[in-house]
Amino acid sequence: MSSKALEISRNMEIPGRKMDFEFDLKALPRYWYDNNAFKSTYMNALSCLFPEGERMFIDAVRDNKHKVSDPKLLEQIKGFIKQEAIHGQEHHLFNEYLDSLGYPASKVEAFEKKEKRLMKKWIPAIDRLAVTCAVEHFTAIMAHDLLEHPERSDGVDENFKQLWRWHAIEETEHKAVAFDVYQAAGGGYFRRVFNMLIVTIMFCLRASIVQGIFLWKDGNLFKPSTWIDGFKFYFGKGGLTRSIFKNYIDYYRPGFHPWDHDNREYLKSWIAEAQSYRAV
Ligand SMILES: [Fe+2]
Ligand SMILES: [Fe+2]
Repeated sequence: MSSKALEISRNMEIPGRKMDFEFDLKALPRYWYDNNAFKSTYMNALSCLFPEGERMFIDAVRDNKHKVSDPKLLEQIKGFIKQEAIHGQEHHLFNEYLDSLGYPASKVEAFEKKEKRLMKKWIPAIDRLAVTCAVEHFTAIMAHDLLEHPERSDGVDENFKQLWRWHAIEETEHKAVAFDVYQAAGGGYFRRVFNMLIVTIMFCLRASIVQGIFLWKDGNLFKPSTWIDGFKFYFGKGGLTRSIFKNYIDYYRPGFHPWDHDNREYLKSWIAEAQSYRAV
């Protein structure tokens, strides 16, 4: 593991911020993302998976915390827990808005809750932490993609854009916390990559099923235009899969560390930008 990445990780400050966004969810159009059904339902599906997922990450980190002795990492764990708890609350509010549009967001959340309870009961803490590291890698590379390509959020309500950017920034700040706890807990390479394989299949499948339900609800699932938009979104020029693939695959390298990919420049510029809508 590179000493530069470990040093960046060790010096990272992870504050829990209670944000104060001024937007009225009721005023958001149904297809709030670029007036596009595919893109909007994709983000809606992710939002439904976030609250319980984030609660599971918090539990997995907490359940391995006793193996950590570094005071700096213990402090970062506190920041990680605060950030993820606040994200979960913000997304839960958004999911209530999705319910009001007739999407079964609460049902998805309830299903997720049951599943996470079973996971906690049957899966050892170190494996739940390996799952957390894998999903955190996904969120970190997707957050990086959003920050690297601000044009991706063209057409999104300005205040709402701030919410997604804030989440992306905090996912970047704490991207290595679960990973560093996993290392401190003695987690090995094979467990890490095996869980990444499982998470990749489950995450893609689950997000697609939830999105499929939302598209079906609106009568968009079988429209050719939806599938064309979806293909462009994932595989077109500048599409998401092409954009994140290199960073995704890096996770399988022995010696990988999340801060091998140093993207701290986005943190600095966001903190300056965020002063305009909330003191950071
Ligand atoms: Fe989060
Ligand atoms: Fe996270």
